[in-house]
Amino acid sequence: MPGLDTVTNGRILFGGDYNPEQWPEETWREDVRLMKDAGVNSVTLGVFSWSRIEPQPGAREFGWLDRLMDVMHAHGVGVVLATPTASPPPWVGHLHPDTLPVDQDGRTEWWGGRQHFSHSSATYRRLAAAITEDLAARYGGHPALTMWHINNEYCTYDWGDEAAARFRHWLRARYGTLDALNEAWGTAFWSQGYGDWAEVHTPRRAHYLKNPTQVLDFKRFTSDMLLECFTAERDIVRRATPHLPVTSNFMPLWAGQDAWRWAAEEDVVSVDLYPDPRDPLGAQHGALVQDMTRSQARGPWMLMEQAAGPVNWRGVNHPKPRGLNRLWSLQAVARGADAVCYFQWRQSRQGAEKFHSGMVGHAGEEGRTYQEVKRLGADLARISARVAGRHTVNDIAVLHDWHAWWASSQEARPSAHVEHADVLHAWHRALWESHLTTDVAHPEHDLAGYKLVVVPQLYLLTDTAIDNLLAYVRGGGTLVSGFLTGVADEDDRVRPGGMDARLRELFGIRTLHEWWPLDPGEHAACDGFRGTLWSEEIEETDDAVVEASYRGGDLDGLPAVLRRDRAWYVSTLPEPGSLRELLARIAAGAGAAPVLADLPARVEAVRRGDLLFLLNHGREAVTVEVPGTHRNLLADTDTDTDTGTGTGTGTGTGAEVTDRITLGRYGVAVLSS
Ligand code: GLA
Repeated sequence: MPGLDTVTNGRILFGGDYNPEQWPEETWREDVRLMKDAGVNSVTLGVFSWSRIEPQPGAREFGWLDRLMDVMHAHGVGVVLATPTASPPPWVGHLHPDTLPVDQDGRTEWWGGRQHFSHSSATYRRLAAAITEDLAARYGGHPALTMWHINNEYCTYDWGDEAAARFRHWLRARYGTLDALNEAWGTAFWSQGYGDWAEVHTPRRAHYLKNPTQVLDFKRFTSDMLLECFTAERDIVRRATPHLPVTSNFMPLWAGQDAWRWAAEEDVVSVDLYPDPRDPLGAQHGALVQDMTRSQARGPWMLMEQAAGPVNWRGVNHPKPRGLNRLWSLQAVARGADAVCYFQWRQSRQGAEKFHSGMVGHAGEEGRTYQEVKRLGADLARISARVAGRHTVNDIAVLHDWHAWWASSQEARPSAHVEHADVLHAWHRALWESHLTTDVAHPEHDLAGYKLVVVPQLYLLTDTAIDNLLAYVRGGGTLVSGFLTGVADEDDRVRPGGMDARLRELFGIRTLHEWWPLDPGEHAACDGFRGTLWSEEIEETDDAVVEASYRGGDLDGLPAVLRRDRAWYVSTLPEPGSLRELLARIAAGAGAAPVLADLPARVEAVRRGDLLFLLNHGREAVTVEVPGTHRNLLADTDTDTDTGTGTGTGTGTGAEVTDRITLGRYGVAVLSS
């Protein structure tokens, strides 16, 4: 299948969503001039253009899009063409109410916003396929077209009748018989046994707690239905243009899609990423999403959307201070992105997102936002030939799985404060702050190449995944796991003993007597650190090594951190600094080293191919020791303190850097040796 490299051809794609139907055609001319000045080489067209293309049922108004495609081609800007199926026109809902999704209370979600389509509606699927066919036929041969973008941020749920019919169909395929479904869902509890398939529904509003396995299956089903919508459109455009790659943009760490499964169906994996500029851990959140996306792509990936300035959907929407857009964009490149794109090119003056920034903001060409975009375009052009297509090799894998996430976020669990995504962030943060770079992997992936495998929390593990972890450790790997791992099987049935017996044996746990979740703000004193969120009453096996015990309280003297050989178990969430130290120690023991020794705290170092990216996430200038002689590929573009300055002089291929480099506020250096 064609990949991102067929589009990039040694460049980094730079651009964004372009929604010119909001603007008169004179503005298009200004747009292309500003795009050229900024080095924009790719735009995504048509994401929300359905009503413009098909204003009445069956109409096709392609003239404006023809002109636009031609204008883009004439100016050397490639087009990622979207199928407009994320926002059906009002006539679709008006004439075909069966296309509208229904919430769990039976209320219809109306048009007037976007994403008001039912993934299960046969009518929606038919109309979406028809417009996709016609787009593919019309533009498949257009020279501006580089890639297809299907829909946008698939994210809808539907509890309606048509969804229920498809849910039954999906369940029949999964279980075969009602007996098997009853067994998997544990319907013996609370008199829930099903005697006829017609009785099985989507998990609608219920008087009290819902059946957890029904809810888990509904999440699996929803991800699969959305995937069916994606693959239906993908297959249409593939038939027309087998030489062009197809993508659909993920939301970052979005709970609604099993992105491992989805990524396997995409030619290019792309993601939208909007860390809060005020969030002190915004860069780490970005790093986690980037690590995950690169791992899903198994190589270079596409940053489909980010914001050049503020978004408009937080309570308070902060702009990006000078330099931050460049820093976070280059962070994505360091972590494997071969495309740096935005929502959207030109900030809207009307509509729901008029206060969301654009690459060209309301302040226009003179505005700081556009000026910084322009500078970033020059930076990307400077490094692209050395960067595009390069892979990254990491020694550490952090495991994540959507099914474990879904199962662990049920109602009526031991602690409502334990959130899978928060725990994942906490463990990734500990590694990130130790300058240990990581991949993210699925628990059934081949892990043999990693020196260390980290399981922040995998509440649900299949037998295959457990076998995989055991084989990994048997093969010489080091494994460290957090609490609430291996608790349930794939039907969310608690495994005997409260945790899989083979895993207990692996970690040296004889008996897991009770979980002792902690209240918010409560701590569990342990040898040398404080635990948060959770603690456990564990009895160790004779051959286990207790690395730290609980001190005081009901668990006094019981193991908090234990291991057997190379398998570690951490039964609480140590405070951030302590988890960092613990993981740094375990990583060192496993032979996984930080990218550079003695890095200042706010500096991130990432290797991509033979390049070393240094990113200063602080507002203060900082000097980094980089033994040897290098060239800073970014240094020629700017000599002010925003960028890295070396001890040597600039040349055509970057300034020479010997032994140390100073990075200004939000400064970045890309060093080649
Ligand atoms: C998402 C969508 C865009 C836009 C941005 C705003 O990423 O895909 O259409 O709404 O959010 O942040």
